[in-house]
Amino acid sequence: MDGLDTLKAGYLTRISDAADEAGLEELRLAALGKKGEVSLKMRELGKMSPEERKTAGPALNALKDEIDAALRAKKAALADAALDERLKAEWLDVTLPGRPRAAGTIHPVSQVTAELTAIFADMGFAVAEGPQIETDWYNFDALNIPPEHPARQEHDTFFMARAEGDERPPHVLRTHTSPVQIRAMTEAGAPIRVIAPGRVYRMDMDQTHAPMFHQVEGLAIDRDLSMANLKWVLEEFFSAFFGVKVATRFRASHFPFTEPSAEVDIQCSWVDGQLRIGEGDGWMEVLGSGMVHPKVLAAAGVDPDQWQGFAFGMGIDRIAMLKYGIPDLRAFFESDLRWLRHYGFSALDVPTLHGGLSR
Ligand code: DAH
Repeated sequence: MDGLDTLKAGYLTRISDAADEAGLEELRLAALGKKGEVSLKMRELGKMSPEERKTAGPALNALKDEIDAALRAKKAALADAALDERLKAEWLDVTLPGRPRAAGTIHPVSQVTAELTAIFADMGFAVAEGPQIETDWYNFDALNIPPEHPARQEHDTFFMARAEGDERPPHVLRTHTSPVQIRAMTEAGAPIRVIAPGRVYRMDMDQTHAPMFHQVEGLAIDRDLSMANLKWVLEEFFSAFFGVKVATRFRASHFPFTEPSAEVDIQCSWVDGQLRIGEGDGWMEVLGSGMVHPKVLAAAGVDPDQWQGFAFGMGIDRIAMLKYGIPDLRAFFESDLRWLRHYGFSALDVPTLHGGLSR
């Protein structure tokens, strides 16, 4: 039969060039459909002599099978290619490591600073700040600390290096937050009610002392404030802070910047080696305080004949450890997450300003 090879070659080329299934279906109909080219040739077999039919029949059948097979193969290839495309587009690498999530917690000192700031804010205390590198005058002289006072010695205080030829007293890393009293009064005058939380530095390093720690200073100056107001403020503070009624006790003491001066103890007891604050008849020292010395008021430009008030200074790290039962300074300096979590600090556990303290 003539032309079968050309017919075949034509179809095989077009099949291999087909872009999609619709194109393949068109080719199938054109070749093998009822009126397709191959089918029409099949019909011609009837008119042939038996001799001719003997060769043309198998040739046509082979042609039909070949085209059919080529169509199926191309169809499968197109489906494979489509699947490949999809797999490429939707590729998901299950071996990728997970995305890291920030897993920090709030630092105990930050949390306690926020807590105490909120409590004092409720009593009308604003937050005042001062520099950590302080002048000799603000850190010592203005606070009536005499030149021979032990705090001014090299082994207690970090003194800053001086430029050659600079004869001024060297600056210091502030040894307490008390200089903020001077700065706040110089800036705002009286009456004033501020707290000043922040970092302080001393040459001290053992189980319970670090060369950098945190204090909060309190200062209230008005016309007729007394030690009674101081005691009330402190008892309000400790009761709100520890969440139980806490009694306080004054013990006579001495600070250059207050007169009279008192150390303040809070009520506590030990039950089976466990500290209980606000219970029992034990006492624990937590802060220094007193009536602001007239010389301190005068150094800050406040007239001591017109104004008087109280001040106090307390260690934040210390009361954080007491409140959360943290036995040593590791939680503060290593900031090991497991350690902090053990003591119940989490990123979500932030205090709110008004009464909503989280514990
Ligand atoms: N500045 C003192 C210290 O660092 C603490 C202190 C005591 C602060 C008595 C005061 C105060 O305001 O009145 O040890």
